[in-house]
Amino acid sequence: MRIAISTGGGDAPGLNAVIRGAVLAAIHRGWECVGIRRGYDGLLDEDRVVTLDVNAVRGITHLGGTILGSTTRGDPFRWRERLPDGSWIERDRTDELIAAFRTKGIDALIAIGGDGSLRIAHRLFEKGIPVVGVPKTIDNDVGGTVSTFGFDTAVQTATDAIDKLHSTAESHERVMVVEVMGRHAGWIALHSGISGSADVILIPEIPFDIRKVCEKIQRREREGRHFSIVVVAEGAAPKGGTVSLIDPEHERLGGIGDKVANSIQEMTGKETRTLVLGHLQRGGSPTTFDRLLGLRFGAAAVRVIAEGKFGTMVALRPPAIAPIPIAEALAMPKVVPLDSDTIATARDLGISLGD
Ligand code: F6P
Repeated sequence: MRIAISTGGGDAPGLNAVIRGAVLAAIHRGWECVGIRRGYDGLLDEDRVVTLDVNAVRGITHLGGTILGSTTRGDPFRWRERLPDGSWIERDRTDELIAAFRTKGIDALIAIGGDGSLRIAHRLFEKGIPVVGVPKTIDNDVGGTVSTFGFDTAVQTATDAIDKLHSTAESHERVMVVEVMGRHAGWIALHSGISGSADVILIPEIPFDIRKVCEKIQRREREGRHFSIVVVAEGAAPKGGTVSLIDPEHERLGGIGDKVANSIQEMTGKETRTLVLGHLQRGGSPTTFDRLLGLRFGAAAVRVIAEGKFGTMVALRPPAIAPIPIAEALAMPKVVPLDSDTIATARDLGISLGD
């Protein structure tokens, strides 16, 4: 048995733990393991398929990033190519990809990715590649799993940042707006905001009214609290408005933090500053939770391959890790349920959710 591992989409802390878990579990069964570098680029354009043996995965559990590299632009169904005149075309290169799989003698693929990469993995499965998926994203928005690895580390990073901002906010009597990641779901904003004692948390699931945000800040002012911390997810939008994009062509989100900060300064007269945490949240050493989840996901993916359950994704269903159809995981993004106790907790603590 020879299996391949690929990591696609944005990196997330814990990717290397997944790779190590899968490689050691495969070797334990006497199987061979290879890694495809940079998503599927390694098979399509560069023939960068590397052997993953015990030495290759030694000492990587605690490292951020991915030893295999990744790309957010490597969809083999819509491969982008630049023509000599500078324009771009897209073409389907999956037949070549499947041929490359066969030439390399690969029997099964472990595709580690977020919704985009899992969607590609599912389509490859439908075209005949035996695939098992592993859910990865700091945003925690993949369906069917209680958690994705990377999320816990990102929340820790965001909470640390909010903790540190408190001193400047309080010393200078300012409003500090922190923009965190969270494209479709506000998990990072909600968890770090509550844990970091934010006063306002704005998430994509609850369109906000800037007047409510300002009311909260002014109420604090009257109570003698002359500073406030606002945490806003990059995908949050005002009621009746749209999300803020810095690169509409590639649908890159960004800018909502500044917009919120400008409105607060204008409407309350309070000096306001913005911090965009950005890719800091994707970096660094994974927390214990993410390391363990990554190792468990990697080893579980190999067990699922051994059972021949392809077209599935390993999911955290405490206390177990169980395979579920990738299609089921992709049916709906996992957004924050508005009737959850975490939302109720935020409200009970007096945190404004902008509604
Ligand atoms: O999907 C994870 C994520 O962190 C999103 O929250 C964010 O919109 C995106 O990645 C940014 O990706 P890029 O690396 O393309 O800037």
